[in-house]
Amino acid sequence: MTPDPVLPGREAAMMPSAPVSRRTFVSAALGSTSAAVMVHSSLAADEEVRELRLAIVGCGGRGSGAINDSLTINEGVKLVAAADLYASKCASMRKAMQEAHPGKVALDDGSMYDGLDGYKRVLDDPNVDVVLITTSPGFRPIYLRAAVEAGKHVFAEKPACVDPAGYRTCLEVHDAAVARGTAIVAGTQYRRQVNYLGAIEHIRQGAIGDVIGAKARYCSGGIWYRPRTEGMSDAEYQLTNWMHFIWLSGDQITEQAVHNLDTMNWVMGGNPVSAFGVGGRFTRPDDSEMWDSMSIDYEYPGERIVSFMCRQLPGAASDVGNVIYGTNGQCHIGAINAGSRIFDRSGTMVWEMAGSIADAYRQEHKDLIDSIRADTPIVELRQMADSSMVAVLGRMAAYTGQKVTWNFATAESTLDLFPKELTWQSQLPRPQFAIPGKTKLI
Ligand SMILES: NC(=O)c1ccc[n+]([C@@H]2O[C@H](COP(=O)([O-])OP(=O)(O)OC[C@H]3O[C@@H](n4cnc5c(N)ncnc54)[C@H](O)[C@@H]3O)[C@@H](O)[C@H]2O)c1
Repeated sequence: MTPDPVLPGREAAMMPSAPVSRRTFVSAALGSTSAAVMVHSSLAADEEVRELRLAIVGCGGRGSGAINDSLTINEGVKLVAAADLYASKCASMRKAMQEAHPGKVALDDGSMYDGLDGYKRVLDDPNVDVVLITTSPGFRPIYLRAAVEAGKHVFAEKPACVDPAGYRTCLEVHDAAVARGTAIVAGTQYRRQVNYLGAIEHIRQGAIGDVIGAKARYCSGGIWYRPRTEGMSDAEYQLTNWMHFIWLSGDQITEQAVHNLDTMNWVMGGNPVSAFGVGGRFTRPDDSEMWDSMSIDYEYPGERIVSFMCRQLPGAASDVGNVIYGTNGQCHIGAINAGSRIFDRSGTMVWEMAGSIADAYRQEHKDLIDSIRADTPIVELRQMADSSMVAVLGRMAAYTGQKVTWNFATAESTLDLFPKELTWQSQLPRPQFAIPGKTKLI
């Protein structure tokens, strides 16, 4: 599983959060390190809960982690269906869950589906209440739409989309989910991590004065590459080695660094106005479309600049975190388990808070299930779609070498990366990477 660091965005466009989220938030704001205990408080033994039946589409590293998180944190839930491109992935996920959660798995062979249409079988199953969508990102908008149309509540991993066409689909799906009372909880876990919540609350309360800019970094080592094996069609190869094809992953900025950009939107209170950036590739395999480094200046309203960088270069220095600059100090929000700290103008630390990414991962699933049971479904797709689109905006700017505005990218761009026809045997265009100045802004 890709270890995913960094954070998220804005409370707007959400239906009311579940009570546990609010308790967590208050604890965080008070600087309490006991917040994690409250996060994990379970239902009283005699409390009656409505059983909710879970399904998963995409049984890889994060999918297996996500279903494990849900089965760990929630009572009264059961895994009843699964889909993956490969039957073997469903089977190994089931085995792991049966070992970890005997009693919470009722997944027979007939409810495990493989191939590109497996998600449809899961969504057709009247037994399923909630679906976890944890495939590669390129499928997310299509599967989200299908899930909401089928009336299933959703947990959706990040990113929400990899291009403007997918972004627009997500906005429609968000509105449809609100109208239908269908929950969509997003896999931007930092929105639920106590040191992020605490830091944002302190910033909102003026702890660093007015926010004048920020720095966000996802600079890490290399990423996996799954070589083509004999007999693979273009489609099977790209679906398996999905990270390296932009229609599936969106490049590192979208697939991974969306966490930082989500946090930047959260801090800044909305989307940027424009992006301008550079980048390139030095070490990627020949047939990878990914760049291995990118540096983007995002301009937010009020001429506030977010200096963003992402990189996957083995041997180069790592830096994964965020710094928010204010008129009276700085707030450092560290990814994974690095915690948050506020410094005043003299450099003295005036506040700090620890946080656990594992708790945040589980909290997503508690909030989702609690909100369904309370009939106050959380719908936060728009928030994750916005952050994903910020990543797409930056990529468009870097790939083309142009300054790209949010308005152009969201309203006018015709970029739509998903293949017009996709089957297991599809021949797909030869992979090619972007060259600034030559790659057209469309
Ligand atoms: N929030 C986080 O911290 C975090 C961490 C890691 C990954 N992720 C996200 O989770 C998603 C999955 O990543 P991963 O690391 O688990 O990748 P992975 O390759 O380990 O797993 C993806 C699985 O989805 C299956 N799949 C792909 N397309 C499918 C389709 N159309 N229908 C059914 N199954 C399909 C694959 O066969 C594979 O088993 C990505 O969007 C990634 O960005 C999030």
